[in-house]
Amino acid sequence: MRIPDEIIDEIRSASDIVDVVSASVPLKKRGKNYLGLCPFHQEKTPSFSVSADKQMYYCFGCGKGGNVFTFVMEHDKVSFVEAARTLARRAGIPVPEEGSADQARTTEFEGLYAACRMASAFFVENLFSTVEGKLGLEYFRHRGFSDDTIRAFGLGYALNAWDGLVRRAERDSIDPAILEKSGLILRRDDGSGYYDRFRGRAIFPIFSPTGRVIAFGARKLREDDPLGKYINSPETPIYSKSRVLYGVYQARDALREQDAAVLVEGYADLISAHQAGVRNVVATSGTALTPEQIHLIARYTKNIILVYDADSAGSKATLRGADLVIEHGLDVRVAGLPQGEDPDSFVRKEGVDAFRAILDAAVSFLDFKAEFFRSQGMLETPEGKTRAVRSLVETLARMSDEIKRTFYIKSIAERYDIYESVLYRELDRILGKEAARARYGASRDQDAGSASVAGQTQEATAPEPETVPAAEKDLLKVMIEHGPPLMEFVLTHTEKGNFTHPLVRAALDLLFRHKDEGWDPSRLVDEVEDPRLKDFLANILFARYELSRGWAEIGSEPDLPDPWKVAEQSVLRLMAVELDRKIREAFRGLKEADAEGKSLIPHQQLIQALQKEKVGLKSLRLLGNR
Ligand code: GTP
Ligand code: MN
Repeated sequence: MRIPDEIIDEIRSASDIVDVVSASVPLKKRGKNYLGLCPFHQEKTPSFSVSADKQMYYCFGCGKGGNVFTFVMEHDKVSFVEAARTLARRAGIPVPEEGSADQARTTEFEGLYAACRMASAFFVENLFSTVEGKLGLEYFRHRGFSDDTIRAFGLGYALNAWDGLVRRAERDSIDPAILEKSGLILRRDDGSGYYDRFRGRAIFPIFSPTGRVIAFGARKLREDDPLGKYINSPETPIYSKSRVLYGVYQARDALREQDAAVLVEGYADLISAHQAGVRNVVATSGTALTPEQIHLIARYTKNIILVYDADSAGSKATLRGADLVIEHGLDVRVAGLPQGEDPDSFVRKEGVDAFRAILDAAVSFLDFKAEFFRSQGMLETPEGKTRAVRSLVETLARMSDEIKRTFYIKSIAERYDIYESVLYRELDRILGKEAARARYGASRDQDAGSASVAGQTQEATAPEPETVPAAEKDLLKVMIEHGPPLMEFVLTHTEKGNFTHPLVRAALDLLFRHKDEGWDPSRLVDEVEDPRLKDFLANILFARYELSRGWAEIGSEPDLPDPWKVAEQSVLRLMAVELDRKIREAFRGLKEADAEGKSLIPHQQLIQALQKEKVGLKSLRLLGNR
């Protein structure tokens, strides 16, 4: 049973956001808004802003934003229903109890966390206080891990028995069904009971970014152990392999401070580096990097250094991982270790300074790729060169920053003796294909590079909010601020296809759904599940997103542009973008016709007509006599 909407509304109107936030964050009035230190990230100067008018908050530092419900959810790490109950209690509003689906889910999560916490404590206890555990402790020490490190990473030991954990759970009256769900124990084939998943292994607990144990990795220690070198927990409701990176919890402060993440593969690699003082390390645990993991890193830093072993330099996994990072707008550099070394063995053999030197020498991914192709002799034959250029430009095409792109084209052309024009032609070809795909509404990932990212969601691949075209953002802002009449105007003059950015399209769907139900922008956020969309909307709702270009000059009052003028101009800009696209396409048609010796006249006419239409936009007025 959910809390009825009327009660939610009552709670909303009884819960002033400034009061609620003030209870945990000291706020100072600053102009129309209130300002304080953000509770969601570390900061010294306040960038957390709360608006009493809008009943919303937004942090200019970390981009988190939302309304009174999301504040309690994020701050207390609770579900929507729990947040609503907290606020209801505060306001003295009675809420019907118990049994909601949401509550059941929260209870399930809590049960799983508790199971992992119990198991983790058990493994640690085994390590330090049992005779058998000495084997594990010796193993870690032999790998050079200090006792402090062992404790910081919660390392442990799983007894070499079928029922070590099963019996501990019995003793502590823990429901075996929950342990089974957490993947720690398995049901016997004959259904007569349970047995331990991890037996006689060194245990590496996997933490959530907030420091809760959610899963385990377990390394083989015995010759007679028939299973793989590592066994991991299966996917569970609290553990999704593709969304987690090993070591984020231990690294998070260093990631922010150093503003870079060093990405390694293994548990031991991460721990060795961390112990040696390189603390901004996270590990993929041997699987291909996913978009969700990139988003996770992006919460802390936009710079990634991939560490690879010289054997695997050209491995598809490294290349795809780097391309994926670039596609998500982060900066990626690569650092190569000598052949046969991993960060763990290297740090132990050569010392941390040598490791730091290798990290400092990390090169841009394009240089890495070009160098790799050269080392393979590919730049020496025409066919090899063609393939190399294509692959380099595919990477370039993933960058959304045109200035960066231009810079890289120059540098690649110079260093590897390739004509810039050749690179540009290839780039145009790829981008042209992409623009065409976008026009027909298909997702970007449908071909190039999709092998490594199969199954990812639309949300996960959406480009960063910073790449939203100004006109699209401006239109959203005026629509949100001025409500249904402006929405009608935009609906009349545009099509969904005019909006290119996935976040904008998602926001439009949401807006238009709410248009006719009593307009209240702070409510929009309630329905939104995608945190990026939520933050994006909050960002738009808040004043810091200034309308682009000098709108003030167009408006009648100097600092208050007329929203209708803004809407009109923005719609005209979207139309101009569309026409530009058509013009480019027409030119392409012209070239093709030329190459094929066909008549150029129809193409020239089309181009002229489109150009005329574009000039016409300048004097086009959409507002009538408003
Ligand atoms: P050590 O031998 O303990 O130093 O391991 P490593 O981390 O150097 O191993 P490797 O480079 O082979 O693997 C890197 C990471 O891949 C490991 O840390 C594990 O997370 C993962 N991995 C390695 N082997 C296995 C395996 O057999 N099964 C699974 N599920 N994961 C593995
Ligand atoms: Mn290793």
